[in-house]
Amino acid sequence: MFNRTRRLRSSQVMRDLVKNIEFSLDNLIYPLFIEEGENIKVEISSMAGQFRLSLDRLEEELKELKELGIKSLLLFGIPKEKDPVGSQGYAENGIVQEAIRFIKARYPEFLIVTDVCLCEYTSHGHCGVLKGEELLNDETLKLLQKVALSHAKAGADIVAPSDMMDGRVKAIREVLDENGFVNLPIMSYSVKYSSAYYGPFREAADSAPSFGDRKTYQMDFRNSKDYLIEVENDLAEGADIIMVKPGMPYLDVVKGVADAISNPVAIYNVSGEYSMVKAAAANGWIDEEKIVMENMYAMRRAGADIIITYHAKDIAKWFKRGV
Ligand code: PBG
Ligand code: ZN
Repeated sequence: MFNRTRRLRSSQVMRDLVKNIEFSLDNLIYPLFIEEGENIKVEISSMAGQFRLSLDRLEEELKELKELGIKSLLLFGIPKEKDPVGSQGYAENGIVQEAIRFIKARYPEFLIVTDVCLCEYTSHGHCGVLKGEELLNDETLKLLQKVALSHAKAGADIVAPSDMMDGRVKAIREVLDENGFVNLPIMSYSVKYSSAYYGPFREAADSAPSFGDRKTYQMDFRNSKDYLIEVENDLAEGADIIMVKPGMPYLDVVKGVADAISNPVAIYNVSGEYSMVKAAAANGWIDEEKIVMENMYAMRRAGADIIITYHAKDIAKWFKRGV
């Protein structure tokens, strides 16, 4: 006698009956890169199918996203001017602040998440204020508060700090509460590793550090324990959603987080993961649609409630066609 596990795989209907992981557009957030300027729609060479868009080219994109059934967006800004303290990141008429108002005026139904960080706005490309080559934690918190508050005032639905400074969730929660945004959720990039998988993004957002790396603030992937400290700290400081980033190579961490907490867990299927799939697909080495769907289910199975992915538009098209 032995167990015949194949019995429950005998037909599509049987397999559908016993499956226990669901995946739909409800779970997805689509990142957008908004660049200051006019008539910009430039494909990001390392991220096939992803573009930098100026506000005047955003309307057509929003229309398409709406028709496809995409519901949530994550905004990144590329300013014209950068300076050592990233002031365009918290300017009232900064590119992200303008983009939020632009979208809300036309398509208020989109849920808008904003990335709260300074690296796209600093001339040195680091995620905060420097003293020499040292990144100052507590001084940076003050600026992150300004970024988050400016996004809130412009109409963001969720703010998502990605800088990895200690205490940023507390600082942001405080400034939001003081200004009447008690109901605005914080999705914290709590578990964010220092990763080569962000390479294409840094080209896309023009945010590569001009010297050194981010290893004094982003996490070391050679440690399997410290992620729970990050999660506990952020929850204690008031985070509503916990994010793990990168995605696919870190599913053990996603599983660990999902098993440990009751808050929603988000995963960021980052630029390098996307570009690798796109490159292999362009060469005909893999079946893009099947690989992407398998990856999405893998992330959901590990415990991710929310998936941030550049594949969202393709997935929406496949769903429309019926997969
Ligand atoms: C900004 C930020 C980064 C990403 C999201 N927010 C880059 C970084 O930390 O270097 C990466 C996203 C991706 O690779 O798709 N701090
Ligand atoms: Zn940053």
